[in-house]
Amino acid sequence: MTIKPLVLLPDPILRQQSQPVERFDAELDRFVEDMLETMYDAPGIGLAAIQVGEPRRLLVIDIAGKDEEKNPQVFINPEIVATGDGVSVYEEGCLSIPDYYADVERPDTITVRHLGRDGKEHTTEADGLLATCLQHEIDHLNGVLFIDHISKLKRDMVVRKFTKLARQRVTA
Ligand code: NI
Repeated sequence: MTIKPLVLLPDPILRQQSQPVERFDAELDRFVEDMLETMYDAPGIGLAAIQVGEPRRLLVIDIAGKDEEKNPQVFINPEIVATGDGVSVYEEGCLSIPDYYADVERPDTITVRHLGRDGKEHTTEADGLLATCLQHEIDHLNGVLFIDHISKLKRDMVVRKFTKLARQRVTA
């Protein structure tokens, strides 16, 4: 298993549309293992393939608490097929935008149709943190970041800060 380097804001890769996964083979299995390892190492509770530079419609999530057993979940070609009427607000962060957090309002319940690692179809009803996390990660597959859900003023500030940081990384 390999820990993959994370793609950071403002890398334009993060704005790419990811493509559906079509092959369910040993390579995909290895990739899923690498994704999980990378997420746990970060550590984070969710990671989309595009965040390691791979435009595939695939994401991993584990929202288990610190003292709970690991609960890795893999969502391939996920699609939101229904959303609830209520909204919830969570303070979100993103492994591609380290150390920045902001409140985001999203539907509080969703139904997601997706494939598992075995290529079989599943339906997941999510609420609470899982609903928010899934929406955040599915956004990534469409080139959308959580900062797109906050005010333009705040977003511009974050992008400026990370653009400056990226420049420092290149010249350091
Ligand atoms: Ni993210």
